[in-house]
Amino acid sequence: MKRSRIKDLLNSKESGIDVVTAGWVRTRRASKGGFSFIELNDGSCLNNIQILAFNDLPNYDSEIGRLHPGASIVVEGELVQSEGSGQALEIKAAKIRVLGHADPMEYPLGKQRINLERLREIPHLRARTNSFGAVARVRDLLTFEITRFFHDRGFLYVHTPIITGSDCEGAGAMFQVTTLDPANIKKDESGQPDYSEDFFGQRAALTVSGQLEGETYACALGNIYTFGPTFRAENSNTRRHLSEFWMVEPEMAFADLSDDADLAQDFLQHLFNAVLTHCKSDLEFFNKRIKPGLIERLERLAQATFARISYTDAIEMLIDSDQGFEFDPHWGMDMQSEHERYLAEEIFKGPVVVTDYPKDIKAFYMRRNDDGRTVAAMDVLLPEVGEIIGGSQREERLDHLIDAMRASNLDPKNYTEYLDLRRYGSVPHAGFGLGFERLVQFCTGMHNIRDVIPYPRAPKRL
Ligand code: 4AD
Ligand code: MG
Repeated sequence: MKRSRIKDLLNSKESGIDVVTAGWVRTRRASKGGFSFIELNDGSCLNNIQILAFNDLPNYDSEIGRLHPGASIVVEGELVQSEGSGQALEIKAAKIRVLGHADPMEYPLGKQRINLERLREIPHLRARTNSFGAVARVRDLLTFEITRFFHDRGFLYVHTPIITGSDCEGAGAMFQVTTLDPANIKKDESGQPDYSEDFFGQRAALTVSGQLEGETYACALGNIYTFGPTFRAENSNTRRHLSEFWMVEPEMAFADLSDDADLAQDFLQHLFNAVLTHCKSDLEFFNKRIKPGLIERLERLAQATFARISYTDAIEMLIDSDQGFEFDPHWGMDMQSEHERYLAEEIFKGPVVVTDYPKDIKAFYMRRNDDGRTVAAMDVLLPEVGEIIGGSQREERLDHLIDAMRASNLDPKNYTEYLDLRRYGSVPHAGFGLGFERLVQFCTGMHNIRDVIPYPRAPKRL
């Protein structure tokens, strides 16, 4: 007989049928009548199925009566209407085979509750808990819905490289990729490592964004997106930063900043609706145990039009507010998380798209506005998470782009391919990057970004 997944069994309309299922024991409770209730979970859904194991099972005394949380079993039996409360169906076991025991003195996920910080120490086991199982299912659903959203709108999925020779954000926070022996590096005349000896014959690093390569495909195929791992070597130990995260980056040819903001809103709302529809019981769990009000908030934001405001107006609102900020707001500053959150949580009480930032605090590729001091940039800010999306209209004018590179101390010679897009058939185009883990954080209400990715990478943590 084929194994059924617990999710399908719990949703089954039939009872009285013979089934086989398998999973990990969450709890076992011995009853006075000489039988055990086993709560079994297989990761297919949040809920456990209850197994009724009577002591006439041949291995009851030797094995079943000694089962502890974490043990793995295969159950054959009859799916029956439950007489107890709390579940509609349960399995009356005819046979239980123990695949692997778990020593209750050593297994870290016993009956006692254990906090998220401690669970971070055991990433190889934490997926067996309710919270991390639910996060994994929401992550999966969001991945699927991202692909669906773009596919339905004719955006091509482009796989941009992970190893790269150029720094997209110009911030220099890149992880170097090298096969040079660190104990024995040859230097050139200027005292720099001689990268001609290195694997690629030049300096290489892990990508901080697929945008530059994405743009080349958008400027040939129209609308594209990339969705892949992204690496930043910045020393940010916050609940919103990872050293390795996943970024979704759509790029549209023949589009401006306002098209970009429209796409960002449609995209986020599609994803909010999708989790509400397809992750109901996981969301109910988060709503009850992690973040009260989560579902109501997602429902509201899935409908509400996102506010749009210029950076200049936003800074004025922050200055005029009587909120005591740690960093005093002033024009020209990079907004801190406290400012972003104040705008989204207190002033607009929902998502807000801030546009037209000062050119000096943004990357070289953003299109210079006519005022000479701002660029056609946008950040989408959400309550609690702050910046979830960063994007812009791209500078499509060759001379402006070269000027901007020089102003950022970047050598145009290193960006020949990127500049070629402006030399041959240049078009207005725009795109953005969405931090996938920040999205998962927002949809689950998980407080720390390290709890929404299976193996978080952060400074001094591998
Ligand atoms: O604003 P960022 O740096 O934009 C770019 O990289 C552009 N090249 C995107 C584009 O226009 N194609 O990053 C985009 C988003 C941020 O808004 C944030 O959500 C997320 O990526 N992000 C991080 N998420 C987790 N940990 C980090 N260290 C992150 N840095 C950025
Ligand atoms: Mg940004």
